[in-house]
Amino acid sequence: MESPKLQMALDTYDLPSALKPLQQAAPHIDVIECGTILCLAEGMRAVKVIRSLFPEKVILADVRIAEAGSLISKMAFDAGANWVSVVSGATMTTVEAVMKEAAKRGGEAQIELIDGWTWEQAKCWRALGVPHVITHRSRDAEAKGELAWSEKDFDEIRKLNDLGFKVTVTGGVVPQDIPLFEGAPVYAFIAGRGIYAAPDPALAAKTFRDAIHTTFG
Ligand code: 5RP
Repeated sequence: MESPKLQMALDTYDLPSALKPLQQAAPHIDVIECGTILCLAEGMRAVKVIRSLFPEKVILADVRIAEAGSLISKMAFDAGANWVSVVSGATMTTVEAVMKEAAKRGGEAQIELIDGWTWEQAKCWRALGVPHVITHRSRDAEAKGELAWSEKDFDEIRKLNDLGFKVTVTGGVVPQDIPLFEGAPVYAFIAGRGIYAAPDPALAAKTFRDAIHTTFG
């Protein structure tokens, strides 16, 4: 199994607050996520600027498409994103529209799994060619104190991987969590606040990277 990638989520309220930690952490990360918060605050300008500064990096625009799949994914791909996110509540028509835009541009779509998604939907997403899912502990769940990753999460990751998805894990992930996922087929870990809000974002990203390397080789 390939070692999981490290994705840095930028959920800041403005671009300068995202760029400073990103510049510091960039050598240690594989994927840059223009987070939902940053996309809402700065629009696709954030994706354009980050693309111009990091022409070689994979960029996810975490635009969480729920509707207007073609229009929104086109905006994100035109701005320079490689990947776009779609919420699991979107209809298959919307997912299909996103996949069509992605196919035209060599992009990819990720389904963000929100509570209430079903295995039936997951099979349909695969049938439409969706390559990625993001399994996450939501900020709202975190705020309610639902903190621990459990065997249920690891089983779900295995089953999603068995269906053919690349599975990304996120939601308040800290380096100490990484060993819990040993043996689980994780494609990428996303860390946001754990890197951009750290006193030393480069060190924080390296600490995540080292934990991934120690756990997965
Ligand atoms: C929340 C998100 C975040 O971008 C992602 O979870 C990373 O954030 P953090 O590590 O700060 O929890 O999409 O749903």
